[in-house]
Amino acid sequence: WQGNYSSWLEQKGKRLQQEEKTESKRQKALARELEWARLAPKARHAKGKARLAAYDKLLNEDTKSKEEKLELFIPNGPRLGSNVINAESVTKSFGDRVLMENLNFSLPPNGIVGIIGPNGAGKSTMFKMIMGLEQPDSGQFEIGETVKISYVDQAHAELDPEKSVWEVITGGNENIELGKVIMNSRAYVSKFNFQGADQQKKVGYLSGGERNRLHLAMTLKQEANVLLLDEPTNDIDINTLRALEEALDNFAGCAVIITHDRWFLDRVATHILAYEVDSAWYWYEGTYSEYEEAKKKRLGDHEPKRPRFKKLVV
Ligand SMILES: Nc1ncnc2c1ncn2[C@@H]1O[C@H](COP(=O)(O)OP(=O)(O)OP(=O)(O)O)[C@@H](O)[C@H]1O
Ligand SMILES: [Mg+2]
Repeated sequence: WQGNYSSWLEQKGKRLQQEEKTESKRQKALARELEWARLAPKARHAKGKARLAAYDKLLNEDTKSKEEKLELFIPNGPRLGSNVINAESVTKSFGDRVLMENLNFSLPPNGIVGIIGPNGAGKSTMFKMIMGLEQPDSGQFEIGETVKISYVDQAHAELDPEKSVWEVITGGNENIELGKVIMNSRAYVSKFNFQGADQQKKVGYLSGGERNRLHLAMTLKQEANVLLLDEPTNDIDINTLRALEEALDNFAGCAVIITHDRWFLDRVATHILAYEVDSAWYWYEGTYSEYEEAKKKRLGDHEPKRPRFKKLVV
């Protein structure tokens, strides 16, 4: 080995430090997992209930200390009124494919709503209709006056593939503002597991997991009070996933999350909106496990079918 000994030692020291950091992150993730696994179903239920009742408490917590305590921190937006987003008899089809028929729900101010359903059920379309990017065939989504939505399109069509991860997330600024907290922008980006040289990667060449982390970093800095997250958990590493869970637990506001990760949902969701059969969506207050149990009682053991088709009227 050529080079000089002290620089080798230095490098080794750095690597060990990095390893230690990762190790302690893993320990934390493990501890959280264990904590949840040990909770009795009743206590899990109580966690969701407590969250729904605690909007003002969460909103008034000191942001600075929250930011210091948490691996990932989501700044809260303006205070949400009781009117968040209401689906009012929404019906939507593409061609002869019926995605939803007479959909009604009302998002609670501090809820975390998990949206589940098979591929092609219409989950992403629901977000697009809320954002006004698609129109319902009938009915409407009513958006409350105080609502400020954070949403980044799943397709990220508007991102410049030649720009680096860091540039896209931070706009090239040295500091980033998260609510009242000002943070070094490289430190912010590294919270999404983009370390060192990874921050210089070009957006056009990212893997699925990297893309998802980029997406999250862009969504979570927006000081919104309603988050619409479309499959944030896909291909994401376990540390970022646990950090996201913790961040959501501490976020004052409403989050709607499309995900196939039931284990994740079970721990964060206060409500479930599920595609079941025949373009019908079911709204449920409770954890994912409770929803599953209640569903078995209602329907038996059926798995959701593919979206149905309109009857041809001659
Ligand atoms: N603009 C469009 N024109 C025609 N069909 C569309 C359009 N957008 C979506 N679809 C169709 O509507 C259905 C629902 O699409 P959507 O993206 O909402 O599903 P999803 O539940 O998000 O599925 P996935 O889990 O695969 O992301 C799909 O069959 C899709 O091909
Ligand atoms: Mg989708």
